[in-house]
Amino acid sequence: MSTRAVVRGVGHYLPERVMENAEFETMLDTTDEWIRTRSGIERRHIAAEGQTTSDLALRAAQAALADAGMEAADLDAIVLATSTADLTFPSAATMVQAALGMQGGFAFDVQAVCAGFVYALANADALIVSGQAKRVLVIGAETFSRILDWTDRATCVLFGDGAGALLLEAAPGTGAPSDRGILATDLNSDGRHRDLLYVDGGVSTQTTGVLKMEGKEVFRHAVEKLAATADAALEKAGLRHDDVDWVVPHQANIRIIKSTAKKLGTPMEKVVVTVQDHGNTSAASIPLALSVGAARGQIKRGDLIVTEAIGGGLAWGAVVLRW
Ligand code: UT7
Repeated sequence: MSTRAVVRGVGHYLPERVMENAEFETMLDTTDEWIRTRSGIERRHIAAEGQTTSDLALRAAQAALADAGMEAADLDAIVLATSTADLTFPSAATMVQAALGMQGGFAFDVQAVCAGFVYALANADALIVSGQAKRVLVIGAETFSRILDWTDRATCVLFGDGAGALLLEAAPGTGAPSDRGILATDLNSDGRHRDLLYVDGGVSTQTTGVLKMEGKEVFRHAVEKLAATADAALEKAGLRHDDVDWVVPHQANIRIIKSTAKKLGTPMEKVVVTVQDHGNTSAASIPLALSVGAARGQIKRGDLIVTEAIGGGLAWGAVVLRW
């Protein structure tokens, strides 16, 4: 007997405003064709003025709770992955806690940039398996539009805003890879690569800063590290590539997604792709893809899923779970 963190609900929220690639042609020296062919992105959602990360997170949380048929009072904890919290403090997670009307339990943010949701899942899994919480809402939410340099064509065309959430609940398992729930996690970071992807400001520097990226270098690290972490997580779970029903990757670039799938020996028919419609939403991209994949009827109960992500840090990781 062992305890597993099992998915009970999933949901997402995207801001109303959709920004098509063509809009960038009016602002920058770029084309829809370049953005599509180099990144696979066709459009992204942009938060309305005054709409914050916790606003997006709340909507995704409500959708996941409704999907699970649960209420805020049923939750023990909220773990929210973001690099774009509303305020320096308190955490966006406690803002969601209050907005949901949750009066007990605890809530905190996790900051691992684009790998944030994988880190948050690993934290939530540890809380559940160690008996510290029974029901944990795991959210990924971002407003990256607020930290972009809108004059830098090499970065601003790639990102978008959004939120997704998973509701995890403790359930008895056998300890075998056939269990439902989170089966293995693999987390990594290497702070020596900080200059490849960062925001050049923050609380301690008294500025907000904007996102800076060495795209080509990040790309190179991404394919190699994502395949390695997915392999490691599968091995920890005692499973093989052939067992995988869906790879749900961080949605940064279709070329990274395809190259990683190829390295893993996974056909693209088994990969959930949403990058064309959302762009890179950092920590929100995996829960968004899980929610959209479930709504499309791709992801079904019992399916074996591998999620993998990499971002600033560099920080990267993977989670193997049975839906
Ligand atoms: O979520 C965190 C992880 N982040 C990522 O995974 C992003 C990883 N990197 C990438 O996705 C890709 O490297 C990019 C999409 C950012 C860029 O693609 P690339 O094939 O690596 O292009 P490049 O950076 O080598 O740029 C090629 C050319 C350059 O021109 P020159 O120097 O060859 O004359 C750029 O100036 O494309 C130019 N360029 C653009 N041209 C038109 C860069 N951005 C644009 C643009 N429109 N928006």
